[in-house]
Amino acid sequence: MPVSLRAYKGVSPQFDDSVYLDDACVLVGDIFLDTDSSIWPLVAARGDVNHMRIGKRTNVQDGAILHVTRKSPSNPDGNPLLIGDDVTIGHKAMLHGCTVGNRILVGMGAIILDGAILEDDVILGAGSLVPPGKVLKSGHLYVGSPAKQVRTLTEAELRFLPQSADNYVRLKNEYLNEEIVTPV
Ligand SMILES: CC(C)(COP(=O)(O)OP(=O)(O)OC[C@H]1O[C@@H](n2cnc3c(N)ncnc32)[C@H](O)[C@@H]1OP(=O)(O)O)[C@@H](O)C(=O)NCCC(=O)NCCS
Repeated sequence: MPVSLRAYKGVSPQFDDSVYLDDACVLVGDIFLDTDSSIWPLVAARGDVNHMRIGKRTNVQDGAILHVTRKSPSNPDGNPLLIGDDVTIGHKAMLHGCTVGNRILVGMGAIILDGAILEDDVILGAGSLVPPGKVLKSGHLYVGSPAKQVRTLTEAELRFLPQSADNYVRLKNEYLNEEIVTPV
């Protein structure tokens, strides 16, 4: 169990043995990680003022930051962070209080703000910024800041999205089976 796994107000992250959590990630509070998901080094995910759900076979790569927004009179549900199945979240992406569907690639360093929705089967280019509340439509590539729809995804790209998730399932299985050796 990672030393950086923490409860907040009595609620701890929940996951089963199929989930890979790197020792150098930080997970706090109400976070549910579904089967075969993986969390890589230096990911910080804080489910404190709202909840977070990470879907099956989804990978959250190194340095990504995940957070949520609290409930308030003007925003009674706040903004949980909901991430679907077979999602690849690239290195150093930042996801805040948004909804990400299934079979999605969030490019490295992308930023997704509160209330934004990525429908199923979307690629968001590296370094893109999705403004609050914006909806990215299924089957399309979006790039830029603010992110704009540039074209439909090719058949090859649509096939690649679950393959990318599968690649990470294989990789996390290797890590789970790795003998832990502490260098002297
Ligand atoms: C988005 C991406 C998939 C597009 O690849 P592509 O097939 O080469 O894209 P296209 O050639 O159709 O590009 C369409 C336009 O968007 C531009 N573009 C591509 N990626 C962009 C990005 N990340 N930001 C801004 N513009 C981008 C292209 O220059 C092109 O512009 P143009 O029409 O003015 O020439 C790729 O650039 C990318 O960002 N991949 C993310 C990889 C990643 O982060 N993986 C996670 C870690 S493993």
